[in-house]
Amino acid sequence: MKKGVQRYYQKRAETYEDLDEPETIVAAVRAIGIADHLRIMDLGKEELVLDVGCGTGRFLQPFSSRARAVGVDFTVEMLEKAGESGALLVRADAEHLPFKDRVFDVVHSAGLLGVYRSQRICHEMVRVAGKGGRVYVSFPASESASGVVARLFMRLGWNPTLLDHWYSKADIRGMLPVEAEITGIYRLGFEPPFQRLYRHLRSRLLTRLFIALERKLRDRPLLRYFGARWLVEAKRG
Ligand SMILES: C[S@@+](CC[C@H](N)C(=O)[O-])C[C@H]1O[C@@H](n2cnc3c(N)ncnc32)[C@H](O)[C@@H]1O
Repeated sequence: MKKGVQRYYQKRAETYEDLDEPETIVAAVRAIGIADHLRIMDLGKEELVLDVGCGTGRFLQPFSSRARAVGVDFTVEMLEKAGESGALLVRADAEHLPFKDRVFDVVHSAGLLGVYRSQRICHEMVRVAGKGGRVYVSFPASESASGVVARLFMRLGWNPTLLDHWYSKADIRGMLPVEAEITGIYRLGFEPPFQRLYRHLRSRLLTRLFIALERKLRDRPLLRYFGARWLVEAKRG
């Protein structure tokens, strides 16, 4: 499975940033996602932050303007696009991070567990976090509108979303090692399901409407179910 993921991203590297084209709902969801992570992480200037599965550096760019940032990914073609982020880049497998124990103040990963389910990656992230260091991992939420629709369609052989693995809150506890204390689980990624259908739809009006709705509705009890991702915050005791 790991080789398959790598081959996929070798090909996807050229078009990965197309998802950030302005005036698409997918780009709006992604931009809101970065802002949400930054707000929750509240990085300090002197902190050393590691981004695991950093891809083209979407998160590394804002991380390096706020703190000292290092990015790890195993796909060279993705890392090549991250060159302008200002972060130190390391090509490595996230299941075997080439760092000593307890060296980072903050360890972050977004999107990775949605394409590659690995308890080992979560354990490695906690291992390299310093004592009291913060770990932030995003997981697609199975208890969400997108999660329910995706799993239903996946049984029929088609995935309408861009994510392959979905996690319940109970799954998340099992993914992390016992020494990680979960200090927050945030529901983020307010979006309608069927990203594969609307990701190329370019409409300024629809995107503005979506952003306005997102601001007004994301925290309403019933509509929170459209938040497709958990961002889990954990501390190493
Ligand atoms: C969905 S992309 C997310 C990229 C970036 N975090 C973002 O949010 O734009 C997943 C990335 O994880 C990388 N990846 C997947 N499995 C990995 C592994 N075992 N070790 C290192 N990188 C991995 C892929 O190469 C890809 O760049």
